[in-house]
Amino acid sequence: MPSPAYGPGAVPDSSTSEAAIERLVEEARRAALRAYAPYSRFSVGCAIESTDGEIVVGANMENACYRLGVCAEIAALNAANQAFGLDRIARIAVAGGHVGESGELAGAQVVTPCGGCRQSIFEAAQLGGRDVAVISANGDGDETVAQIISELLPRGFGPANLADAG
Ligand code: THU
Repeated sequence: MPSPAYGPGAVPDSSTSEAAIERLVEEARRAALRAYAPYSRFSVGCAIESTDGEIVVGANMENACYRLGVCAEIAALNAANQAFGLDRIARIAVAGGHVGESGELAGAQVVTPCGGCRQSIFEAAQLGGRDVAVISANGDGDETVAQIISELLPRGFGPANLADAG
C-alpha cells in the first residue's frame, strides 16, 4: 500500500460497488466518442469521480503540431479541478480504442494511463492525502483492470517531496 505520505484513511473507498465502477467505465467510453484524435485515430476517454460521487469527463485532443496533443486524463483532471478540486478525487476510469461501426468505442486492449498521466494522477492523490483508484478498460468495455495510483507509479515524486525546498 501507499507510502506514509498519503496519511491516514489512505485507501480508496472499499464500499465501491461493481455498479459504480461499471458506470464510471461507461462514462469514460462515452467521453472517448468526443475525442479529437484525427492523427492517431486512437480515442481515449477518462471519467473522474469525486469523494462525493460527482463525475466529470475528458477526452484526448490532438493537434496538427503533434507534440501539443493532450491526453484524456489531463483533460479530465482539469475538469475535476474546476468542478470539485484535485484533492477530492476518489477514482478514475480510462478507456481507449476506436469508434466502431456501431458508433460505440471499440477495441480489445486495456488502456492504462501513460507515464505522464500517472504523474499527474499521483499529484492529485498526494494533495488529497488518499490513494486514487484507477480502472483501466478496453474499448469494448468488457475487460477492466482495477489498480491504485501508488501501484501504477511506485515511489513517485510528488508535492510532499518538495518539503525540503529552501
Ligand atoms: N492517450 C491518452 O489520451 N491517454 C493515455 O494515457 C495514453 C494515450 C492519447 C494520446 C494520443 O492522442 C493518443 O492517445 C495516441 O497516443
